[in-house]
Amino acid sequence: MKPDVKAFFDTATNTVSYVVRDPNGRSAAIIDSVLDFDYASGRTGTRSADAIVAHIKAEDLTPAWILETHVHADHLSAAPYLQEQLGGKIAIGQHITTIQDTFGKVFNEGTEFQRDGSQFDSLFEDGDSFHVGQLRGDVLHTPGHTPACMTYVIGDAAFVGDTLFMPDFGTARCDFPGGSADMLYQSIQRILSLPDETRIFVGHDYKAPGRDQFAWETTVGEQKQRNIHIGGEKPAADFVKMREARDATLAMPRLIVPSLQVNMRAGNMPEPDQQGDVFLKVPVNKL
Ligand SMILES: [Fe+2]
Repeated sequence: MKPDVKAFFDTATNTVSYVVRDPNGRSAAIIDSVLDFDYASGRTGTRSADAIVAHIKAEDLTPAWILETHVHADHLSAAPYLQEQLGGKIAIGQHITTIQDTFGKVFNEGTEFQRDGSQFDSLFEDGDSFHVGQLRGDVLHTPGHTPACMTYVIGDAAFVGDTLFMPDFGTARCDFPGGSADMLYQSIQRILSLPDETRIFVGHDYKAPGRDQFAWETTVGEQKQRNIHIGGEKPAADFVKMREARDATLAMPRLIVPSLQVNMRAGNMPEPDQQGDVFLKVPVNKL
């Protein structure tokens, strides 16, 4: 079955969020939402999330799921805000616990920060399935960019998060803690073993050199043929060498420090202090 897919592009973080809908009903899933964050002032905003809320309300949809492909390091998730406005269960991959362990240490979180994924309503493992109305979603564990990355295949549409980008841009970086170019290669092979006509929806777009429009939809067949990092049956060793050399040149994402602290809590801010004020930390010389 072919779900209806509506994309929401956030130019501040180059993130694509999706609303996926059962074409025969009102059930929907929201994937990789964005909470706006102005780092200089420490202020959050809901302009991006409100566009999704408006769409869901206008179409009279019921979100069954609010899905995260992974713990994003470049934008904050709006999952709790969307859940409060619209309902739905917040889910991520079960290896979130690895991420919580790693970054619980980096941010020196106390014992009140649970590292068991309990901030989420559901934790998926590889091979799990779920439903959006009559649509079936299948869950693939696709680590490499992070250890907990998941791909959600809903009907003929695969939401690949940060594994593959558009064919002319390539693949995601693998240099965050627990990342692995070798693992990403294996994960991408699994995605590319889906039928050629499978639609692929990517988690970010940065416009490739020579392209002046943002784009986020492609197919398995196009990726196999034309992906500049992995197409044409590129051997694993060549990919790993290219990926690691490129990653060594990349700066940290602008919002990595706030994003990790919020997203490892399923999009919630850290607990307020006794005055009710909320603070995020900046670890010095640790990332
Ligand atoms: Fe990411």
